[in-house]
Amino acid sequence: MSKGIIIAIDGPAAAGKSTIAKRIAEKLNFTYIDTGAMYRALTHKALQLGIDMDSDRDLSKLLEETDIQLQPNRDGQAVIIDGKDCTEVIRSQEVTANVSQVAAHTNVRKMMVAKQRDLAAGIGVVMDGRDIGTAVLPNADLKIFMTASVEERADRRYIENQRRGIQTSLAQLIADIKERDRADSEREVSPLKQAEDAILLDTTSLSIEEVADQVIELAEKRMER
Ligand code: DC
Repeated sequence: MSKGIIIAIDGPAAAGKSTIAKRIAEKLNFTYIDTGAMYRALTHKALQLGIDMDSDRDLSKLLEETDIQLQPNRDGQAVIIDGKDCTEVIRSQEVTANVSQVAAHTNVRKMMVAKQRDLAAGIGVVMDGRDIGTAVLPNADLKIFMTASVEERADRRYIENQRRGIQTSLAQLIADIKERDRADSEREVSPLKQAEDAILLDTTSLSIEEVADQVIELAEKRMER
C-alpha cells in the first residue's frame, strides 16, 4: 500500500488537468477531487433558481443549503447535487459561461476552500483547480502547474465535445477559453497563478500518457521520501 501524499494540479481552462489527475489517482489508488466541478455545481443550481450571479451573499447562502458530493466512479467522478446526478449538465455551455463569475466571490471561495480541505484531510489525494497549490493546499507534497497553448486546449476540448455530441465551433472555443483564462487570472481573490514551488508542465506537444507518466514518476519520488 502506497503512502498517501497530496498532489495539487493547477492550470488554465482545458489544459488536461482532470484527465491527468484521474489517471494518476487511479494508478496510485488516491482520491481524485475536481474542485472546478464544485464551482460548476453551485453555478448550475444558481442558474436553475435564478440567483443573482453578482451577489456573494446570495450565492454563499445557496452554497450553505446545497449538498455537493463527488463520488468516484468508472469514468472518474460523478457530481451529485442534492442527491441528483448532475455530472453531465454541469459541463453545459451555460454553466461554463457563468462559472468564472461565481468563482470570483470572496465568501463563496472561502466556503469552497474549507470544503476542499476537509475532503483532502488524512488521505492520498490528487486535487485539481486554479488555486490548489497557492491557497487550498499550500503544503501539498507535489505541485504541478499544467499549461498548453490556447489553440491546443481548444482542439482538445473540440474533440471531447464531439465525442459527447456537443456542437461547438473551434473559433468560439478559442474565444471562450481566452475569456475564462482572463477572468480567472485577473480576479482579486486567489487568481490563477503558478505557485512558486510548482513544477511547470507545458503539455502542448505531449500525449496524455506522456504527461501522466511524468507526473506519476514525480509523485513516486515524493512518496519515497
Ligand atoms: O476546471 P473547470 O473548467 O471545471 O473550472 C470551472 C471554473 O471554476 C473555472 O473557470 C475557474 C473556477 N475554479 C476556480 O476558481 N478555482 C478552482 N480551484 C477550480 C475552478
